[in-house]
Amino acid sequence: MRVDIISILPEIFASVLDASIIGRARSSGALEVVVHDLRMWTDDRHRTTDDQPFGGGPGMVMKAEPVYRALDAVCANGAQQPTVVLLTPQGVPLTQDLVRELSALPRLVLVCGRYEGFDDRILVRADLELSIGDYVLTGGELPALVLTDSVARLLPGVLGDEDSAFEESFSQGLLEYPQYTRPASFAGMDVPEVLLSGDHARIAAWRRREAVRRTAERRPDLIARADLTQDERVFARRIMEGSG
Ligand code: ADE
Repeated sequence: MRVDIISILPEIFASVLDASIIGRARSSGALEVVVHDLRMWTDDRHRTTDDQPFGGGPGMVMKAEPVYRALDAVCANGAQQPTVVLLTPQGVPLTQDLVRELSALPRLVLVCGRYEGFDDRILVRADLELSIGDYVLTGGELPALVLTDSVARLLPGVLGDEDSAFEESFSQGLLEYPQYTRPASFAGMDVPEVLLSGDHARIAAWRRREAVRRTAERRPDLIARADLTQDERVFARRIMEGSG
């Protein structure tokens, strides 16, 4: 997959994109990321990318012309027609389902906003407006990194153990079960006996049950959409009603 990122702070990205799993995915060729400085597409001496809002009010608005020129240049460059994503708190919330959909695309172009928001005429150039959560950051750069990271780890060959992308939180609509490593006894707390038993069927059943329990306790909103058996649904309901 190729990801182009358009930002006025291109220097923000390197440390995250060079490190660890994402760095390896780039070295292996599974992921190509190109960061572009939006100021390349300004045409004034001060390389202006924002201006005051028409109608008054606080803050500055991201100008349309540099973003249009940037998208014209970046999208023309390369064989595949990219999917253009604007990172904004007004966008659709990012979920693991959406991450999975986006990870199947050949090419993404991410546009990071700064200031109070985008000139609304920029929105027609986007295929998708995306928010990483109901809180406001100083810009779309961290959301672009969150999106790139979440998508990259689903690309074939990026995670070492093919199972680890599947088994964890949200893949089955549930939070992850509790995990432990050595020592078996620590700070007065023992690892559940079943995990030391070597009985793989019992371990799998315990993990599934604990995943349902955790989700019911912490994220009851996920239970309705989770893929549960009748028995699991009864168990989850008991927990949510406080009698589990
Ligand atoms: N820009 C500022 N806050 C944001 C958020 N929560 N998601 C996406 N882009 C943003």
